Amino acid sequence: MLTTLPPVTFVPDLGLAVLRTPNSVYALRVAPDGSPRHVYWGRPLGTDVLAGLPEAASPAASSFEADAAADELAPQTGARFGPAGLQVRFADGTRGVQWRFVGHTADGGELRLRLEDRRRPLRAELCYRVRPGTDVIERWTELTHLAVGDGPIAVDRLDSASWTAPPLADYRLSHLVGGWNSEFQLQRDRLPVAETVLTSRRGLTGHHTNPWLAVDDGTAGEERGEVWSTALAWSGSWRVTVHRDPVGRTTWTGGFGHEGIGWTLRPGESLRTPVYAGLYTPHGFGGASRAWQAHVRRHVLPEPERDRPVLYNSWEATGFDVDEPGQIRLAHLAAGLGAELFVLDDGWFGTRRDDRSGLGDWTPRPEAFPRGLRPLADEVHRLGMGFGLWVEPEMVNQDSELYRAHPDWVIHSPHLDATELRNQLVLNFARPEVEAWAYETLGRLVREHDVDWLKWDANRPFTEAGWDGHPDPDRLWIGHTRAVHRIMDRLRADHPGLRIEACAGGGGRVDLGMLARTDQAWTSDNTDPVDRIGIQHGFSQLFPAQTMAAWVTDSPNTTTGRRTPLRFRFHVAMAGALGIGGDLTSWSEEELAEAAELVAHYKRVRPLVQRGVQHRVVVPGPMAAVHYAAPDDSEHVLLVWRPTTRFGHRPAPVRLPALDPGARYLDPDLKQEYSGAVLVARGIDPRLPDGDHASSLIRLRRVGP
Ligand code: GLA
Repeated sequence: MLTTLPPVTFVPDLGLAVLRTPNSVYALRVAPDGSPRHVYWGRPLGTDVLAGLPEAASPAASSFEADAAADELAPQTGARFGPAGLQVRFADGTRGVQWRFVGHTADGGELRLRLEDRRRPLRAELCYRVRPGTDVIERWTELTHLAVGDGPIAVDRLDSASWTAPPLADYRLSHLVGGWNSEFQLQRDRLPVAETVLTSRRGLTGHHTNPWLAVDDGTAGEERGEVWSTALAWSGSWRVTVHRDPVGRTTWTGGFGHEGIGWTLRPGESLRTPVYAGLYTPHGFGGASRAWQAHVRRHVLPEPERDRPVLYNSWEATGFDVDEPGQIRLAHLAAGLGAELFVLDDGWFGTRRDDRSGLGDWTPRPEAFPRGLRPLADEVHRLGMGFGLWVEPEMVNQDSELYRAHPDWVIHSPHLDATELRNQLVLNFARPEVEAWAYETLGRLVREHDVDWLKWDANRPFTEAGWDGHPDPDRLWIGHTRAVHRIMDRLRADHPGLRIEACAGGGGRVDLGMLARTDQAWTSDNTDPVDRIGIQHGFSQLFPAQTMAAWVTDSPNTTTGRRTPLRFRFHVAMAGALGIGGDLTSWSEEELAEAAELVAHYKRVRPLVQRGVQHRVVVPGPMAAVHYAAPDDSEHVLLVWRPTTRFGHRPAPVRLPALDPGARYLDPDLKQEYSGAVLVARGIDPRLPDGDHASSLIRLRRVGP
């Protein structure tokens, strides 16, 4: 049986490495010149078959082309002219490495290939990891300067990994684009014969593109077709270059840092990249998403089994205008709806009455909270809710005590004017004293105010990034992000009950690195339910629903001005981790009662949404629908949305291909029974009311074959 073969095999005579996941195989070979080359990534094949396969060489070999196969990490030497994943300069000006293979370790699911430069004291380890029950292969690189006493080595680029798709009739690239208020827009384009760069130069993962992509031959659909997909676990600047050559080979290389950002490797020092994970599936984009989501739950999220609470957040209700009586009033209303967590957003600290001052001064604002935050926190706890607090630890207003005390703490080039965005600058967390200050300040806040939840925001990118007096100032790009990750890890370790929500002006920093130390992410500042359908569709390509924070807010929507019924707003937000963010003081008694009922509905289906298996049964168009199935098929929930109606177009039945055609299912709300075969082949009536912004929530329970 293929599945009983070990996850990692290395055949020294052949230099062949084989990585096996439950449903895929990845193979590479160390070529005679010492460089690991790609052989195969796809459906399971036996090692004997893989041993006979050639490396994935370009068919156009000539004196103008290397006949070399695609590299697992391309150095700059030899007849290689594609994007190099490793770019170094030695003290004498020499560029590029030439490898010799010095050995490997294969330990459980982890493989390390050790390479050393033929002449210079530089070692790279190409690392691979296969973990139980996932088709995701994790890869990263560790680079070490071996000689103490030698000159430093300039690392202009160190990617985590290069990936190679097999020869396909055509290539299509799926990726996520957008901006503030429009994150995670799924884009599917024919891949040009060119180098296509996906990147963030912002110091944050970015709203504009996410370090996830999928490649297929142009024919894959939600449920069918081969898909090769990758995601980088990094929360700062990054770059992925996809290279389709004219003779039908597509490779891509990616890692942290954007172009022009370097790291000077000192003698004895190592540089380790973040994980760049890859996944192959023959089951279409839906199969890819389900595999990613399962992987994130099983191997990335710190506490996947905990229910994400129904939260109330005051931002859209009060803006900066927060005070103790107002927040207590909202807390009572939120508790009445069934909220389980109350989050006090921006405006509670320093002199923060608007976005011009106070950022950095993390003590309660005396006019707003004359008795401190404790009375609010206590009241929130008494109401049975957790207490959450908004923070933006990486940022500072110039008009703040912190900036006046430490103007040198910001990311700043001394000979350039600093660009302010939202009246703020970025603190340089790569400086140990700044990291220590942030860790201590946040720890104190959590302890003193009994904080159960931090919403960790970051509302601007880096500009004019410099580090005055530091010999290697570019380090701040990587050092800052590492410090953010480290502080979150330490806070969680110090306060085991603490939960963290990732936020960067909405979904500007959502990635596998962030989700390894947070519980969910604020998906977008855009809470318009019609816009959210598209945003959520893109988000779900990689991330599980339990990490997708989704609020019900007021109508008309503050971002778009669109009016929508409360039920529609709820049904859209119920597809993720439900929250409420409206001004509850303006909701009528009827609206509050309806909202309480919908929150109760959500809690009934929450285990399915947050821990079930997601099927995007109708991709967004005139209608959209998402089906969440219990892994054992016992319970199901279907959410259907139709933003606008068109004359004569009756909503088509929604087919549920994940159901068991041999079983029977009961709708417990209508007491109606269905045959699984009918629901799979013909579908279920979506039961949408007439008119625009129509939605429905349908539950099904397996009642036996
Ligand atoms: C960002 C967040 C919002 C809110 C504001 C507060 O934009 O995404 O949810 O917290 O900051 O200033």
